Amino acid sequence: SWTMANYAKTAIANIKETVGDGKVVLALSGGVDSSVAAALISKAVGSQLTCIFVDHGLLRKNEGDEVEAAFKDSGMNFIRVDASERFLKKLEGVSDPERKRKIIGEEFIRVFEDEGRKIGSVDFLAQGTIYPDVIESGAGDAAVIKSHHNVGGLPAVVDFKGLIEPLRNLFKDEVRELGAELGLPEYLVWRQPFPGPGLAIRVMGEITKEKLAILRDADAIFREEIANAGMQRDINQYFAVLTNNRSVGVMGDFRTYDYTLALRGVTTTDFMTADWARIPYDVLDKISSRIVNEVDHINRIVYDITSKPPATIEWE
Ligand code: XMP
Repeated sequence: SWTMANYAKTAIANIKETVGDGKVVLALSGGVDSSVAAALISKAVGSQLTCIFVDHGLLRKNEGDEVEAAFKDSGMNFIRVDASERFLKKLEGVSDPERKRKIIGEEFIRVFEDEGRKIGSVDFLAQGTIYPDVIESGAGDAAVIKSHHNVGGLPAVVDFKGLIEPLRNLFKDEVRELGAELGLPEYLVWRQPFPGPGLAIRVMGEITKEKLAILRDADAIFREEIANAGMQRDINQYFAVLTNNRSVGVMGDFRTYDYTLALRGVTTTDFMTADWARIPYDVLDKISSRIVNEVDHINRIVYDITSKPPATIEWE
């Protein structure tokens, strides 16, 4: 009979057979998908797997350290690469969403190749690609809506024998179930999805260190207040977006001319369609006043009340 335990068993056996005594590298983001892929492959081939965590400097507040803490002592080979300067340099002056995605995808591969070369004679590349990534990136019949940077582009310089994508047929909820089956901690299994290009597609327009810092602080407050309200599991994805819009406000006796921050929260089962989350007004109110009071350069907060379709979940 079909159970997640059997699925895991079969997947592990398949990975073992494919890999043999070869070496595998996996791009670990710390998100649910790559974490589950890492756990699965690690069960199959142990120390033949090396997880490379490319910190592109576009992560949420404290996220890089949290990922490192979660994996450093897991027994897996884990490497954290601080590549934030490289990425920011490439993104300088770029405001087009698709160009941002392309640049990040390409730079990601380059950083990854550099690390692969250091490890030497890598045979297989593993990725936590899941089914919705495959269809939304146009690998199927669907039109390309956004180029997801974790599908399609593969490091060329490192001469891989093959690609291992053990989650390619699974939906998000199945990936979570598999993660739980493999004994991953609850906070990892239940993390909300975070896009590969990270905060680059949540800072509208040009990306600067300053804008990233503003967004990080605001987003952290949003998440903290959702947790305080006990709503983490009710809202499937929620985050802040720093719009490129500035408007006039008043703070004490002073006129301000600062950024508008948008809050986005959605309920969904598969992330292919989504409804905007009905966050209670008093929770929104708390979030709004905290952000405006605690984060410099934000003087207006709006809540996104569009569903997908016609909007997408991310703004870029
Ligand atoms: P959209 O904005 O297309 O997002 O409605 C659907 C889901 O996919 C996530 N997303 C990405 N995930 N690489 C990823 O791994 C990407 O490039 C990417 N772009 C969007 C998004 O956060 C949402 O969960």
